[in-house]
Amino acid sequence: MKFGSCPVQADQYCSELINNTFYHHKQVDYLAKGGDTMNAVTELLGCRYPIIQGAMGVICNPELVAAVSEAGGLGLLATAFAEDPEVLRNQIRDTKQLTNKPFGCNLFVMNPLAQEFSKVLAEEDIRTVTVSGGSPKALIPLLHDLGIKVVVVAPTVEGAKGAEALGADAIVAEGAESGGVQGFKGVSTIVLVPAVVDAVKIPVIAAGGIVDSRGYKAALALGAEGVQMGTRFIATKECVAHSLYKQTIVDSSETGTGLVSMGRFQIRALRTPLAERLIKNTEAPRPGFTGKVMEEAWIAGGLDVGLLPAGQVAGLISGIPSVEDIIQEMIS
Ligand SMILES: Cc1cc2nc3c(=O)[nH]c(=O)nc-3n(C[C@H](O)[C@H](O)[C@H](O)COP(=O)(O)O)c2cc1C
Repeated sequence: MKFGSCPVQADQYCSELINNTFYHHKQVDYLAKGGDTMNAVTELLGCRYPIIQGAMGVICNPELVAAVSEAGGLGLLATAFAEDPEVLRNQIRDTKQLTNKPFGCNLFVMNPLAQEFSKVLAEEDIRTVTVSGGSPKALIPLLHDLGIKVVVVAPTVEGAKGAEALGADAIVAEGAESGGVQGFKGVSTIVLVPAVVDAVKIPVIAAGGIVDSRGYKAALALGAEGVQMGTRFIATKECVAHSLYKQTIVDSSETGTGLVSMGRFQIRALRTPLAERLIKNTEAPRPGFTGKVMEEAWIAGGLDVGLLPAGQVAGLISGIPSVEDIIQEMIS
């Protein structure tokens, strides 16, 4: 019997299942033996652990992405508000200077340049892409033709089934407690993940509310075969986010985020004074995000310039460790 690139004896596999019934039946777990966790997701992504650093706009700096991949997970570059394919190419090349392990990229459907970015990704030999922010209908065949695996981010069962029917290789089931862009249907991770697992045959990766080994194991118990985390990776040594952004996460309680309406969608963000004013309608909504606004708020620390997206897990984060420390704790 062979799982991924790891040959497994049938009796070893059976005793793993018996000794380790906590994990979902699809998961072949070697953690107890101090080895790798290999399953359909690690095989798909080409990494050691099924742990993805979710895309996060301008704060997915090459150092963060490379650190996640070096630690055995899969780092992702982001393009949601990117405006120049050559900037993406340079980011990929900068990341390659820091790691020879695989990393991926997110394509945001609402960005009109998403198809152009796809070609750069193929030219630079990126093998995995997550697609979010709208229907993946146009991107899935294009990416597959370019030899790239496609993981679709879905906040509902309907979205996950639609993506599977269009040929997606895996689903990120993202619950409403997650940081960043949200729809209006708001299903929590603990409900969404098993519902999606029951509805599709392709591997499911859980996102939203996961921050440590407890969340990781809970996600596996729900039937996911991997996790994607965003907020946890902002408050790390390697992330380029401003220290005020990281510290606001550290200082937050579990009620420290709120949903700010942006018209067609909402954003889960830290309850900074700006976010509170927008939530209470004491300040008129501002034009949507641009790369410039994000850079000023997220990297330069202009807390009154833009929102600071983060998930409810901000309330579980109490320090700013290295990426390696986070991943080691998760697989311990
Ligand atoms: C600051 C920030 C920016 C984000 N930007 C993107 C993005 O560009 N594309 C995307 O698919 N998801 C984006 N997300 C979602 C994350 O990739 C990830 O799925 C989410 O943060 C997981 O939930 P968690 O924050 O509870 O870990 C963003 C999240 C945050 C916090």
